[in-house]
Amino acid sequence: SVNGDTRNQKTLVMIKPDGVSGGYTSSIKKIIQDHGFRIVEELATELDEDSAKSFYAEHASRSFFSDLVLYMTSYTWISIFLSCIFTSGPVVVMVLEKDNAIADWRALIGPTDAKKAKISHPHSIRAMCGKDGEKNCVHGSDSTQSATREISFFFNNSSSGFVARHDEL
Ligand code: TYD
Ligand code: MG
Repeated sequence: SVNGDTRNQKTLVMIKPDGVSGGYTSSIKKIIQDHGFRIVEELATELDEDSAKSFYAEHASRSFFSDLVLYMTSYTWISIFLSCIFTSGPVVVMVLEKDNAIADWRALIGPTDAKKAKISHPHSIRAMCGKDGEKNCVHGSDSTQSATREISFFFNNSSSGFVARHDEL
């Protein structure tokens, strides 16, 4: 196809801070297994500011960028001190593999805005555990290029990518 070979395709999935702190990790992983995805990598960690900025670099010029980075970022003292205000905290990052994984995962999570997802895609993951257009619980790569970049960001130890914390969760 025009999108290339989608057999045994890999996609990068993240359960965002609100998904983890809301207790949705196991129900999301059950959905993953039930739909035939294989979890080939998994990492429980926290994103610092540089990592969040780098992961979402394509949105750097958007008005929502600073709020997005704050939401995705966990500073331990802030999340303990202000946990009643911020939903930031640990994330779970996974590489999933199956035929057509990228599009199938995007279909399962539903639209970006969880508020709209609750109306138009009530059975989607974002409808289940997201809150609005920012706090939408889960990430999924949107193309083969994004998947390649995002997988190597977390799992290839590249100098430009994610530097795992010493106290990995
Ligand atoms: P985007 O890549 O457009 O959405 P998706 O996660 O569905 O691929 O945006 C990345 C993230 O940025 C999105 O998950 C939540 C946040 N975001 C906002 O906070 N406000 C917005 O208006 C948009 C479009 C995104
Ligand atoms: Mg996106």
